[in-house]
Amino acid sequence: MSATPLLELRGIDKSFGPVQVLRDVALSAYPGEVTALVGDNGAGKSTLVKCISGIYATDAGEFFFEGQPVQINSPRDASALGIEVVYQDLALCDNLDIVQNMFLGREKRSGLVLDEATMEQLAGQTLAGLSVRTVKSLRQHVSSLSGGQRQTVAIAKAVLWNSKLVILDEPTAALGVAQTAQVLELVRRLADRGLAVILISHNMNDVFAVSDRIAALYLGRMAAQVKTNEITHAQVVELITAGRSGQLGLRDENGTEYADLTTPGADA
Ligand SMILES: Nc1ncnc2c1ncn2[C@@H]1O[C@H](COP(=O)(O)OP(=O)(O)OP(=O)(O)O)[C@@H](O)[C@H]1O
Ligand SMILES: [Mg+2]
Repeated sequence: MSATPLLELRGIDKSFGPVQVLRDVALSAYPGEVTALVGDNGAGKSTLVKCISGIYATDAGEFFFEGQPVQINSPRDASALGIEVVYQDLALCDNLDIVQNMFLGREKRSGLVLDEATMEQLAGQTLAGLSVRTVKSLRQHVSSLSGGQRQTVAIAKAVLWNSKLVILDEPTAALGVAQTAQVLELVRRLADRGLAVILISHNMNDVFAVSDRIAALYLGRMAAQVKTNEITHAQVVELITAGRSGQLGLRDENGTEYADLTTPGADA
C-alpha cells in the first residue's frame, strides 16, 4: 500500500445558489486501493464526483494529484490527469458496437479512414487483460448486452485510456447477484493493477466485499475516512445515518464541530 494518495482533496466547498452541498470535504484515494464513497441519498456523493471530474467548479478547496497541487477546471483537465468516471446509465451508446463505444470520440485513424483493425485489437486486449470472458463478439451492439456486460464494457473503456483513477457511481445498482459479483471482481482487478478506484455504493455487502477504505459523507461533510478492516457494518451505517459512531465522525448530528459546542460561556 502506498503512502502518498494518488488524489487528495482538502477543504472542498460547493454551493448551488444558497444551498451549500459540500462543506470542507477532504478525501484521499490511493493507488492499488478501492475507496468506497458512501452516504445517504443527497449526501453529496455525485456532486463530489462531478467536482473531481471537472464538471462542477468548486467554491473553495485544493486538489493534489500524485502529491502535486493541480487545478481541475474542466472534464478535459480531469482526463489529462488520468481520471475517468463511469456513470451508471450515460456511459454507452446503444446503437454502437463494443469497439465503437470504447473508442468513441478518440477513434484511431490510418490516413483518412478509421483504423478498425487496431481498435478492435486494442479493445479485445483490454477486455482480455481484465479477464472479461462473457462478451461473445466485440462487434455486438451494446443494446444487446446485459446490464453487467454493459458495466464491464464501460469500465474497460475507462481502463483503455491509461487512466490512473477510475470513479464508479453505483455500478451494481441495477444488477443481479451473479452480475454484481462479476463487476465487483472487475473493480478489485483494477485496483490490483495499481489503479486508484473510488466506488460509490449504497450496498454495504459490496462495500465490505471490495473496498480497502471507506469514506462516509454526511450532509455534505466527510464524517470519516477509515480502513475497511478497522470498522464494522454497524459503524458505517451509523456514520451514514447520524454522521458519527462513538468516537468516530462528526461531533453532533448537525455536523457541528466540537469547538462550536464549547464556545466560552456556552455551558457555564
Ligand atoms: N445542480 C444542482 N442544483 C441544486 N442542487 C443540487 C444540484 N445537484 C445536487 N444538488 C443537491 O445537492 C445535494 C447532494 O446531491 P448529490 O446528487 O450529490 O447526492 P448523492 O449523495 O449523490 O445522492 P444519491 O445517493 O441519491 O445519488 C442534494 O440535496 C441535491 O438536491
Ligand atoms: Mg448520486
